[in-house]
Amino acid sequence: MNFVDVILKKKAGEALSPEEIRAFARGAADGSVPDYQLSALLMAICFQGMNAQETACLTMEMMHSGGVVDLSAIDGVCVDKHSTGGVGDTTTLVLVPLAAACGAKVAKLSGRGLGHTGGTLDKLESIPGCSVEKTQEEFVEQVQRIGCAVIGQTQDLCPADKALYALRDVTGTVGCVPLIASSIVSKKLASGAGAIILDVKTGSGALMHTLEESIELARAMVDIGTQAGKPILALVTGMDQPLGTHVGNALEVKEAIDILSGRAGGDLLAVSLELGSRMLVASGIAKDVADGKARMRGALESGAGLERLREMIEAQGGDGRVCEDVDYLPHAAYRIDVPAPRGGYVAKMDTTEIGYCAQDLGAGRKKKTDVIDPAVGLVMRVRLGDAVAAGQPLATLYLNKRELANEAIARMQRAITVSPERPALPPLIYAAVSPEETIRYV
Ligand code: URA
Ligand code: CA
Repeated sequence: MNFVDVILKKKAGEALSPEEIRAFARGAADGSVPDYQLSALLMAICFQGMNAQETACLTMEMMHSGGVVDLSAIDGVCVDKHSTGGVGDTTTLVLVPLAAACGAKVAKLSGRGLGHTGGTLDKLESIPGCSVEKTQEEFVEQVQRIGCAVIGQTQDLCPADKALYALRDVTGTVGCVPLIASSIVSKKLASGAGAIILDVKTGSGALMHTLEESIELARAMVDIGTQAGKPILALVTGMDQPLGTHVGNALEVKEAIDILSGRAGGDLLAVSLELGSRMLVASGIAKDVADGKARMRGALESGAGLERLREMIEAQGGDGRVCEDVDYLPHAAYRIDVPAPRGGYVAKMDTTEIGYCAQDLGAGRKKKTDVIDPAVGLVMRVRLGDAVAAGQPLATLYLNKRELANEAIARMQRAITVSPERPALPPLIYAAVSPEETIRYV
């Protein structure tokens, strides 16, 4: 097959055949199609889309581009959750230990930062010693023993997605329903989960900015999962501002530890409880969402969730003392406030810009080969709707290169709109998408 013909066909808006989609996934996995041709096809898919059959076919080809984890040795239903990605979106580090402390088995394959969004693997690696690489046997053993593991894709798990994900990150081809749906669901299927809970973000910091597109993405993923025979559901949740207050790798680990220690809460905890409670229902542990939330809160208040996070970090080679004292996490050399340019209400945030601002400081990659600085990022000091006085800090930058401060301050001031009128506050949960129905809460 001449791969140029595949690119031309998609460029012309035609549907690709299963053989062509297979050549794409295999070519990405084994390196037989060069990056520039893969990138060209990715861009053509962004412009021309894929129909439901093509998307399902790409998902299955990506899933089968490598091995599939066999979790049958683990007792009970293994449940997984995945977010489409956001800013300050550390739900995994909050809900995985809480759900495990409630008896769930969470075998999770996570990703790295993509575009302006953060990635759980990069966050975990900011913990001294913590590794996200495990053999399948070690992965299964860890989940069986402590109830949870969060690792990266090994060379033999979804290698097609591993290659395409890294390329998409640096070719402007992240925000595309069929590419996101196939990327996420292929990994979830390959990781062998028995049930899948998806968190599809919507708003200014999400890959999909409009509610309609976000619901379309949620529906595409739920339908593919259902076709593959998996119990699956999706929540569409708000990303109109960073979900937590901390943005950046070690900073987000700190916030998760603060929440599990009872020192913090807010929207990050609220969304973690919404998702985690559904994981407990899918695992057969909770009888309904309210029961699931009560159990998650119980694990939070007893400290069992924090203890489980420490066990997970230690099982992955990391320094578990970070759970007792966040000072064991890497520190940035400088903290510089971003002052409000005028007084008023925090009316709007360009959350993607805030994510890019953290990336500029070194918290994310601009090129595939960039090395992340685990310590840097920013802490939001305001939420939508807050009243601020001129000069009051909107955020605090955490940086190691002082010379980056002025540009970052200006970028943050542009990203956060302060206006005279008090804005209407956006909801946190917009919709729930199950195989049977789409429920809208707004
Ligand atoms: N997360 C993924 O795993 N893949 C995407 O394409 C986007 C978010
Ligand atoms: Ca301390």
